[in-house]
Amino acid sequence: MCGIVGYLGDKDVKNVLIEGLKTLEYRGYDSAGVSIFNAGKIEKVRAAGKLQSLIDKIGSTGFDGSLGIAHTRWATHGKPTERNAHPHTVNKVSLVHNGIIENYMELREELVACGSVMSSDTDTELVAHLISKEVDSGKDLYEAVLEVKKKITGAYAVLVMSEDQPEEIIGFKCGPPLIVGLGEGEVVFASDVQAIAPHTKKVFYLEDEDVVLARKDDLKIFRESKKIDPVWTELDWSKQVAEKSGYEHFMLKEIFEQPRAFAAAIEPHINIERQSVVLKDIDVSLLKDIDRIFIVACGTSYYAGMYGEYVIEKLAGVPVELEIASEFRYKEPFIPSSSLVVVISQSGETADTLAALRLAKEKGAKVLSLCNTKHSTIDREADFKLYMNSGVEVGVASTKAFISSLGVMTLLATQLSKVHDRVPKEDEQSIVRSLLGLPSVMESVLAYDKFFAKAADDLKKFKGFLYMGRGTNYPIALEGALKMKELAYKHAEGYAAGEMKHGPLALIDEEILIFMLCPQDHLYEKTLSNLEEAKARGGYIVSVGTKGDEQLKSLSEHFLALPKGDFITNPILETIPVQLVSYHVAKALGCDVDQPRNLAKSVTVE
Ligand code: M6R
Repeated sequence: MCGIVGYLGDKDVKNVLIEGLKTLEYRGYDSAGVSIFNAGKIEKVRAAGKLQSLIDKIGSTGFDGSLGIAHTRWATHGKPTERNAHPHTVNKVSLVHNGIIENYMELREELVACGSVMSSDTDTELVAHLISKEVDSGKDLYEAVLEVKKKITGAYAVLVMSEDQPEEIIGFKCGPPLIVGLGEGEVVFASDVQAIAPHTKKVFYLEDEDVVLARKDDLKIFRESKKIDPVWTELDWSKQVAEKSGYEHFMLKEIFEQPRAFAAAIEPHINIERQSVVLKDIDVSLLKDIDRIFIVACGTSYYAGMYGEYVIEKLAGVPVELEIASEFRYKEPFIPSSSLVVVISQSGETADTLAALRLAKEKGAKVLSLCNTKHSTIDREADFKLYMNSGVEVGVASTKAFISSLGVMTLLATQLSKVHDRVPKEDEQSIVRSLLGLPSVMESVLAYDKFFAKAADDLKKFKGFLYMGRGTNYPIALEGALKMKELAYKHAEGYAAGEMKHGPLALIDEEILIFMLCPQDHLYEKTLSNLEEAKARGGYIVSVGTKGDEQLKSLSEHFLALPKGDFITNPILETIPVQLVSYHVAKALGCDVDQPRNLAKSVTVE
């Protein structure tokens, strides 16, 4: 959370920083600010609210300096006000920070006891005070940073500049990502390559404890205080720009991109001629020795993992334990070394998922990652890698990365079933055929966009939303409820339909909308009974089921038909209506669809 950018070079620093922040706003958007040299002094401009407030405030202000730093914030310590916005400047030192300083209370007490005056409620300001003190005692900025690094604990990616050294920026990190790009006579730092790619494709991903000292024509990277020769990565970046391409919101664009994203996720692993699955870049013999799988993730990625759990157990017969990353890392899990730990993360930077990966490796297990963001920390640290291949996802609510994850999970399950001699060849071919056919079916399901656009004014009046499904439809019910909560701020629950009678049925009255996922699968009759129970208590029913199902249609206020599918394909198609309903209800309520309140896309704090 929080996005930071730094620039040294001949371009207009203000523009580079603002354009960089635009690409990072997904990481936090409750305030923003810049510090840029002007007439030899650091000039700081900050504004509460979205980046646009900062842009309005800066207006046509000119800066003559050739370096600056900038920040877009997701508040951790201190309210989202201008006073708490970054950069934080103390005397000659100005800095931006992404992360949390954990020993913040103790440092603050010490600093205040020594006479420091705080001008914000943040943990970040303390780092500026500490560096400033070291600089005042005669150290240069690099030495000051090394000294302060010994005193702070927690998670941080920091860019700092000082009026005493107007030609340099120092970057250092422990936890959250920080990348430095080297161009012709220019250096760009950022939390994400999206802010760097317009300037240079030559990048270096800092490792924890690295310190970068950057001047326009000189860049040094230190690891444990020793200068290292960095291994540069050449970005494979065909301008994956975040543009809405005529859609009103990124989220809607990303929903409509799902057929393409899904195809891009599965195709690298499919041999079309043989109609078989071969997971690229995975040591298949390793999968043979695996006798247990842990799937660890957060939020939407966790629900993709739940789908994976069902499909892997059913197809491959390998036991799967599904874990929420923030729980897994602290519960002292028993992870036999014969296990495979699968971590799923769109951003590849989620702090809890990353910690789970590190824990699993410590315990001797092999880790397989499924990420969307190549070269992200999780991607870099995993033993084996799979990709969602969805392209940049900007909307804070994850959509296309989810649907791609479902596709890849199915391929993993199929590959595992093959190495465990479970799936006959004909079945593998039929799975491959139905996966390859899904993108064009998705195109037709997207037509429900019009239905929800029209229905949203009625649907938005409901007090609460209950999503129900059984089997592989259950994770989609949970995902539907999460989407409704995060986008429309409505109370929403996802339930395994068979569990309703154990309590949640009491919630149902005329003000509750039931979103029922009820395809004609092996659990159809049972799900239908659960629907009858909900309807009998006054619930308003919107159902998603199999085309031609007159019985389900007659029980529903609205019936959305999908082509006949199975436990693999039904959930993938159901995902589209559960996304669309939240999108349109949120829009009808006037909510900020792409940047819902209190959230950020990349959660790099615990
Ligand atoms: O980047 P990750 O997949 O690790 O992110 C996990 C969650 O933070 C994320 O899925 C979150 O729940 C989304 N906002 C849901 O739309």
